[in-house]
Amino acid sequence: MEQKIILLILFLLSIFKLGYSMIYPYPIDVKYDEKSFTFIFQNDRPYFTRLILYQNETTPRSEMAPNYFNCSLVGGMRHCSFHSNESFSRLWGSIESKVCAREESSPVEVCSFGIADLQKYPLASNLKYSKNPKTSGEDIVITGNYLRFMGGPNFLVNSIDTSIPFDVKGNFSDPSFDCNNITVTFPPGSGIFRLFYDETSLFPVTYSYESPKISSTVFDSLKQIITINGDNFFTDKKLVKVSFDGINQTNFNISVNHTQIQVNNFNRVDPGPMSVSITVDEVSIEKNYIHCFPAIITSISSVSNRLDGIVTIKGEKLSSTLNSSLTPSITIGDKQCKFIKSTPTELECNLDKNELGGKNLPVNVNFGGCNSTSPKNVTFTYNIPTLSSGSYLNGTVTLIGTNLGTNEESSIQLYGDGINNTNISQFKVSSSDEKSLTFELPLLRCRSFNINLTRSNITANTLSISASLSVNVTNRPTVSNGILNIEIYYMDCTINPSAPSITVGDPSSASPCSMPSYNSSYYVTTCPTPYGTGINKEFIFKLNSETVSGKFSYAPPKVENRTISDDETNIELHGNNFGNSTSLIKVYLNGIDISSEIIESEDHQLTIKILEYYENGPINITVDGNYMESLFYLTLPPVIYGIINKDNKILACEGLITVSGKNFLTSGNEFKVKVLGNNKTTEVMSQDEKKLIVRAESKDCPIFVSTFIRDVPKSNATLTCLNGTLSVIPDLVKNNKGIGGNIHGYSLSYISEVSLSVSSGTVPLSCDLQCSSSPNDTLYDSNTNISSSETDITNSMDCLSCHSNELVNETSGVLHIQLGLISFHHNVKIKIELSPSPSPSPSTGAERNSKTSKLSDGAIAGITIGCVAAVGCLCGCFFYFKITTRVKNYFK
Ligand SMILES: *[C@@H]1O[C@H](CO)[C@@H](O)[C@H](O)[C@H]1NC(C)=O
Ligand SMILES: *[C@@H]1O[C@H](CO)[C@@H](O)[C@H](O)[C@H]1NC(C)=O
Ligand SMILES: *[C@@H]1O[C@H](CO)[C@@H](O)[C@H](O)[C@H]1NC(C)=O
Ligand SMILES: *[C@@H]1O[C@H](CO)[C@@H](O)[C@H](O)[C@H]1NC(C)=O
Ligand SMILES: *[C@@H]1O[C@H](CO)[C@@H](O)[C@H](O)[C@H]1NC(C)=O
Ligand SMILES: *[C@@H]1O[C@H](CO)[C@@H](O)[C@H](O)[C@H]1NC(C)=O
Ligand SMILES: *[C@@H]1O[C@H](CO)[C@@H](O)[C@H](O)[C@H]1NC(C)=O
Ligand SMILES: *[C@@H]1O[C@H](CO)[C@@H](O)[C@H](O)[C@H]1NC(C)=O
Repeated sequence: MEQKIILLILFLLSIFKLGYSMIYPYPIDVKYDEKSFTFIFQNDRPYFTRLILYQNETTPRSEMAPNYFNCSLVGGMRHCSFHSNESFSRLWGSIESKVCAREESSPVEVCSFGIADLQKYPLASNLKYSKNPKTSGEDIVITGNYLRFMGGPNFLVNSIDTSIPFDVKGNFSDPSFDCNNITVTFPPGSGIFRLFYDETSLFPVTYSYESPKISSTVFDSLKQIITINGDNFFTDKKLVKVSFDGINQTNFNISVNHTQIQVNNFNRVDPGPMSVSITVDEVSIEKNYIHCFPAIITSISSVSNRLDGIVTIKGEKLSSTLNSSLTPSITIGDKQCKFIKSTPTELECNLDKNELGGKNLPVNVNFGGCNSTSPKNVTFTYNIPTLSSGSYLNGTVTLIGTNLGTNEESSIQLYGDGINNTNISQFKVSSSDEKSLTFELPLLRCRSFNINLTRSNITANTLSISASLSVNVTNRPTVSNGILNIEIYYMDCTINPSAPSITVGDPSSASPCSMPSYNSSYYVTTCPTPYGTGINKEFIFKLNSETVSGKFSYAPPKVENRTISDDETNIELHGNNFGNSTSLIKVYLNGIDISSEIIESEDHQLTIKILEYYENGPINITVDGNYMESLFYLTLPPVIYGIINKDNKILACEGLITVSGKNFLTSGNEFKVKVLGNNKTTEVMSQDEKKLIVRAESKDCPIFVSTFIRDVPKSNATLTCLNGTLSVIPDLVKNNKGIGGNIHGYSLSYISEVSLSVSSGTVPLSCDLQCSSSPNDTLYDSNTNISSSETDITNSMDCLSCHSNELVNETSGVLHIQLGLISFHHNVKIKIELSPSPSPSPSTGAERNSKTSKLSDGAIAGITIGCVAAVGCLCGCFFYFKITTRVKNYFK
């Protein structure tokens, strides 16, 4: 209101001043943006023509370029837009600037109007501040438009004290100076205030000093002072409010102007966070600051986690008295220690069993986000392994110490002279207290070694241990002139070795061994052994001044070959390690103990009597408890018991001769078994250990069978033949090639003539004996029930296949058969073959009914010899013969 009255007075004054009376050209509105502004006038009123901007009260801007308003009527209003050759960033003038105007009816321009009288004009806009000024004062860069359109230019009026404007820096007269970017110096101050860019009170802009900031807080528990460091606290305590956790503090002072406040007589027992808030002259801190009252750690107990490690931490502020649910989280190194309980001065937590150990670890206690770390001299160490003693016994090392850990977290390495760094991966720790540890000592060349035990990267003190001499026998000496190879471990490598000695049996007779030589892993020596047999022989080995006992076993007996004495009464086994003491030797042949038949034993030869019942088979010899490593298959001379054809008869057609005996499979020419029939060789049809079946080549009858072993005659027999007998005289069959038929009977090989008499004459028939057996006829019978003695020849029949190429018309005739001295005459029918088959030639008109399969170990094999005539559908001759053979296969 006051402002309006002033304006009105100014207006009246201006009318008086002017000789020419033009009323003030009040625009009714102004439109503006960063690049243009337009005043709007009523069309019958005076309007602007140009601006005369003043640099100060008295002087217009000299450097200003010409400007003008371009006016036009728009919708009954006069719109006058500003034009200048200067950029808008150079648009500046003091409140003393003038405006020129004219009336539409007159060309006269009047330039006496003060710009200060305007009520519509472009306002400082798009204001941006580089920041808010600190309470201690600072230069702030302000950007925007129309900042200096009417005001200053080098001062900025403000509400703190309107008589003391702020300084605006810069030479506005300099054409390069940007009036849209000014720097204002704010003096020390506080709170919220207003800026008047245009020096009128019409359009104030609110602004404030920067809000208080806290950078740190320090609590001095002795002086009971909390010092708050920060900024923008100003200098006047009366304008400042400080609160802790929402409670206003009254006892404080600004200890350093703007940057530090001290709150006095303050104390707190509890650890944890406290919210600090400060307001300066109504400007509040943006975000409350959290002051942490740390727990104070003065000591920590060190424990082993595996013993339910409860860690006790002593100090102050270790529990919250105000808030019982505020419990701390505790870490030791990077391991969690589970909170158990606490008082203000003592806290207990529990380390997990699975946590590994650590050395000089810091302890951290955290209450509600407030961390406290133990001081450098207060650290926690646990599971530190220590070794107090170690010992070696019988291959095992035992270590005594503390915190020896587990297989997962501990590692053991051996090192020392003659030892490549050796890791021990398998060891046992006493689980209850981790105070003892054992492991198998690997074989080492030298006796002394150091032990490096590391648990979770913490290495225990080094311990040195010595093992005692140890030997390892690596071979079995022969019975005579034996040599024992001995590996020597844990030798005293600090002294030069001397030749060791060995004592076997008689304690007074030590034998010298060779000088030990060594490789990277052990020493080795060879020692002589006395004549001897048996296993687990004790010996005493002496090296330097140390003795160690051990055991060795003599080499086992081994048979390389055998001979049979010329008179076939003794077996001589040749080989090694039989010894010369027959009482220590056991001999098993085919599992039968024949030890009592030992005649003599020398180291390389064992002589045994042959008895009747011996059969070929594995021979197993043990000497003084030493078993053969692989058995020897003993073959013995064959024995012939006799020729065992049933009724001493033989079928002329096949002439199979069965010889019984044993050891028929003895190989080679050494004991050749020979069977002759009428002094002619025979063909072997089948052979096993106990039976030999041959076929006589001779068709003569009777047949004298003789047997030989090594050309020495053995059994013989005269076998008679079955008389020739006819059993079936079949009808004959004819076709366009001739006539044919099959005649069955026994011993048909004595057939001398077969002919057919028909009314037109006599037709001779030629016949083939169709029942020869050959090895190809072998059939294997799967019937395991046939015993090996079964040789069935009673059902055997011969079969004659007879035919003639002559054609006959008759349908019956008389068949004449001359068999040896006997003639047979039979009336027969002659049938026409119904379906002329793809004629099997009558001369080969029989097919072998045969199949074969592989012989398997121990299977019973039979021989079946069959002959089926295939001339038409006539009943063929069938002939069945079984021979069984048991095949044994001990060695493959
Ligand atoms: C205004 O500025 C001019 C030129 O710089 C100077 O001569 C004059 O003294 C100033 N007037 C006042 C009142 O400061
Ligand atoms: C301001 O700028 C003008 C024009 O460049 C120059 O003549 C004058 O000397 C300057 N004033 C000051 C105080 O530097
Ligand atoms: C702090 O500010 C006050 C008020 O402006 C003043 O009296 C006092 O001397 C200042 N103190 C210091 C150390 O500057
Ligand atoms: C107490 O502490 C708990 C855990 O830090 C917190 O959630 C709770 O707000 C606190 N209560 C008070 C009253 O401060
Ligand atoms: C042991 O040390 C190695 C290498 O310094 C490190 O990678 C490993 O984490 C450590 N183990 C423990 C249990 O501290
Ligand atoms: C066996 O042979 C050894 C060495 O030749 C001999 O010392 C020992 O007397 C012999 N023993 C018998 C029982 O012949
Ligand atoms: C040889 O005889 C011994 C003593 O009877 C026996 O323990 C061993 O098994 C036999 N060996 C074989 C391969 O049968
Ligand atoms: C062998 O004989 C037994 C009883 O005597 C019988 O059960 C079995 O079927 C026979 N096996 C063959 C293959 O004939």
